[in-house]
Parts: sequence; C-alpha cells; structure tokens
Amino acid sequence: MSTRRPLIAGNWKMNGLRADGLALAEGVVARRKAERGIPCDVLVCPPFTLIADVARIAAGSDVAVGGQDCHAKVSGAHTGDTAAAMLKDAGCGYAIVGHSERRADHGETDAVVKAKAAAAHQAGLVAIVCVGETLAQRDAGQTMDVNRTQLRGSLPDGANAANTVIAYEPVWAIGTGRVATPEQAQEVHAVIRAELAARLGAAEADAMRILYGGSMKPDNAKALLALPDVDGGLIGGASLKAEDFWAIAKACG
Ligand code: PGA
Repeated sequence: MSTRRPLIAGNWKMNGLRADGLALAEGVVARRKAERGIPCDVLVCPPFTLIADVARIAAGSDVAVGGQDCHAKVSGAHTGDTAAAMLKDAGCGYAIVGHSERRADHGETDAVVKAKAAAAHQAGLVAIVCVGETLAQRDAGQTMDVNRTQLRGSLPDGANAANTVIAYEPVWAIGTGRVATPEQAQEVHAVIRAELAARLGAAEADAMRILYGGSMKPDNAKALLALPDVDGGLIGGASLKAEDFWAIAKACG
C-alpha cells in the first residue's frame, strides 16, 4: 500500500499580470485555509515576476510556490535566466524542469533537463521533471519508448522520492482540451514507475509521485486522480481560476 500524498500543482505559464496573479494566489490560499483537510499537497507556479509576492501571500498557508524553470548553473553570465538558488531565495520549494513547451521553445534536451533538475536539488528544491510523447510519436507506437528514454536521460543521480516528482504530460493533451483517457494515463504511469523501480529500487519508486498533466479539469480530475499510479496533477489552463483549481484539489478527497 503506497503512502503517496497527491500533489496538485498549478502551472500558470506566461499568464498573470500583478493584479490578476495576486488575486489568483489569494483565492487559492483562502480555499486551502478554509479546507486544510483535503488530502493533497498544493503548489502554484507563477511567472517569475510574481514569485516573491505570491510566496508572501502563501506564507504559513500550506500552499507551496514553485518556479516554472531554472538554470543549470549556480550563477554567472546567463542573461535572462534564473538560478535555482534564486527561486529558493524568493520563497520557492519546487521547480518544474523539462516542460514540453521549454523542450520545444528552447530546444532543451534530456541532458539539459537533467542538469537543471540536479541544480534544483542542489538548491534544496523539489524538481518536477516532465516527460511526454507527441501525437506523432503516439501514432507511431513509440509512446512507452519515448517516455522511458526521456525519463532515463532527464533524471539526475541522487534523485529520490523526497526531492523529485515526475510529471507525465502527453504533448497532444496540453492546452488542447483533449485529455488522455484513464487507461492511457495509467498505462504510461505504470511504465514510468517500473522504469523508476529499475533505476532507484522498488521502495523509492513506490514512494515517488507521478503527476498527470494535459487538460486536467474539474470534470475529468476525479477519474484520473483515482488511478493507482496517478499521484496528482500538473494543471495549466484550469489553474488560472482559483475555483477550478480548487475543484481539482477537492477531487483528491
Ligand atoms: P493544460 O497544461 O492543463 O493547460 O493542458 C498542462 C501543462 O502544460 O502543465
């Protein structure tokens, strides 16, 4: 019997000017304070510009704050980038690394993602390592191979259930309204867990959380979160409304 506590993580992406972003954070924090008993961890990942303010709003509330990316290096001449230690310093406990949008928009390879995850660990952050196949890869029957390969290449040495969360995000389901069926999600999550067991041992694999991401909404969350190997969600669009985000968290109860 697993003791994994679900993680409901909001990935705001490049959304949120100050007024809207802070109101959204306040909405999430108020709901968490009112319903502390819902059995999940809650995380919001705002754009970098709002992290410090959101961290202040979330302080003492049981809502964690994360960055959407970090640089692999500790500091230096990397214009426009943000080091993991800076995220930590601004109040983050997590960093998403290897999101498919960063892999696509910024050419991030598995090796880059691995270095970023290692940097997050070094800074004392939990790394949320994202993997997922494109529609073309799924149609070509490559889904399991692609996810195994990404996982192998993106997971740094020293990864364990305390410092790492995996997010399975089929690229074809992100922002499309086309969600993986429970069968499709469970199938890949089970393969990821088996791969984790081969790499880290059964106990660590059993304890590590694997999130599903891709058009998770209040109306499909319960079926996905009930799956044996789905331990929460990485939520984009539906995390931009406190009410919808919280409805997903409540599906853990
Ligand atoms: P979505 O995004 O919920 O809008 O599909 C998920 C993600 O990319 O993390």
